[in-house]
Amino acid sequence: MTPTPSGPSPANPLELDPETMRRLGHLVVDLLVARIASLDADAAWRGATRAELEPRLREPPPERPGDFERLLDRVVREVLEYAGRIDHPRFLAFIPSCPTWPGILGDLLASGFNVFQGTWLESSGPSQLELVVLDWFKDWLGYPPEAAGLLVSGASAANLIALVCAREALLGGPSADAVIYYSTETHSSVERAARIAGFTPDQIRTLPADGSFRLPLDALRRAVDDDARAGRRPFLIVANAGATSTGAIDPFTALADFCAERRLWLHADAAYGGFAVLTERGRAWLDGIGRADSITLDPHKWLYQPYEVGCLLVRGGARLRDAFHIMPDYLQDTAVGGGEVNFADRGLQLTRAARVLKIWLSLQAFGVAAFRRAIDRALDLTLEAQRRIERAAAFELLAPAALGVVCFRRRVPGGDEPAHERANAALVQGLNRSGLGMISSTRVRGRYALRLCIMNHRTTLGDVERVIHWLESEPLSG
Ligand SMILES: Cc1ncc(COP(=O)(O)O)c(C=O)c1O
Repeated sequence: MTPTPSGPSPANPLELDPETMRRLGHLVVDLLVARIASLDADAAWRGATRAELEPRLREPPPERPGDFERLLDRVVREVLEYAGRIDHPRFLAFIPSCPTWPGILGDLLASGFNVFQGTWLESSGPSQLELVVLDWFKDWLGYPPEAAGLLVSGASAANLIALVCAREALLGGPSADAVIYYSTETHSSVERAARIAGFTPDQIRTLPADGSFRLPLDALRRAVDDDARAGRRPFLIVANAGATSTGAIDPFTALADFCAERRLWLHADAAYGGFAVLTERGRAWLDGIGRADSITLDPHKWLYQPYEVGCLLVRGGARLRDAFHIMPDYLQDTAVGGGEVNFADRGLQLTRAARVLKIWLSLQAFGVAAFRRAIDRALDLTLEAQRRIERAAAFELLAPAALGVVCFRRRVPGGDEPAHERANAALVQGLNRSGLGMISSTRVRGRYALRLCIMNHRTTLGDVERVIHWLESEPLSG
């Protein structure tokens, strides 16, 4: 910031006068609105190599102030230009995210008010609001009033907190005998959580998913029985409510029955698909999820929130506080009684941003029906994508539409598996480089697969058709 009469005051070099603050704020808001308005015409992906970016960005930190407008221009041109347009209507890769504008403003508010949401003392209003929003989520998922939860950075954090909570609740702490079970379709964050929590590879059973990409109950039963007979302590089953690769949903009712019978903790990783319960079909597909002992959700996925916000709900809410509550002397002033909550007592973070503001603002601004319609539309588009894939002789369907995911590949006439992999990988790279759209790949039963993930509330049938048409008509190479 150049020190001018409207710039920083000489007395406090880190302060700006109100008029300058307003002017700079408007510049940023105008820029964001222009970006969103032009997304469709922009490339869905742009990136650069380290070698290209190093000379542009490598420099020592400046001792002197810089001009904010010039810095803004530079950060947009030289930095943000090279970030994925995850909210682009034809970004169908990985798990797309498309935040609403009230959600984006909610994050700005949280930063501007600088809310510290670790303790009730320092954030009673936002903490009360988080309790309210968590109750909405509990209600949607079929959880009882005594369930409790918290908002976190994302599903990776939620899965970690769930795993530690289950361990504390059932085992009373670390145990070298304890065993965790999940299918090969489970997200890597669960394995990472187990690693962070000190579980060794021989404490994890990764069971091959069945023909529908689900956790097979018979194999699970056998593995648990074998371990119990060998003196191990089976304690945790992790099930998917929307596996990342295929969208598959594990059989929650049967799993809940099994876990109740064996006194095992059932954790539902519903990071990807959990908010589909807002729709009628989603609720039917996710039947039984409310019987899980804990549920991970990711509002920054299918609840259209800006990064970062995940959520963990625990059915027996008291177990969450029992697992994480610690009261050091220097926080004794923050002690709560009655119904008030120090969210720091429920998980990993003491300093927490008010992530709830964006969720509350956007749900209030649009109403839940708008979110339900957006999710329903994405489910329809995914089914339509499958129909088009099945109709095209050039394609082979590898995993049918499940939630917003469909997996397939271009046929390579006369080609073996490596030839299919090379040609399809070239299609992924070619589409992404073209700027038209972006998709990603996965493996379905070991075979290289193109994967579409349709969730964005801006994605139209025309967008899906353009991407599929490109993949169908592009000459094969590789
Ligand atoms: C099923 C599932 N679990 C966990 C995660 C990790 O979520 P996050 O990136 O929010 O930590 C993802 C991310 O895609 C996911 O799909």
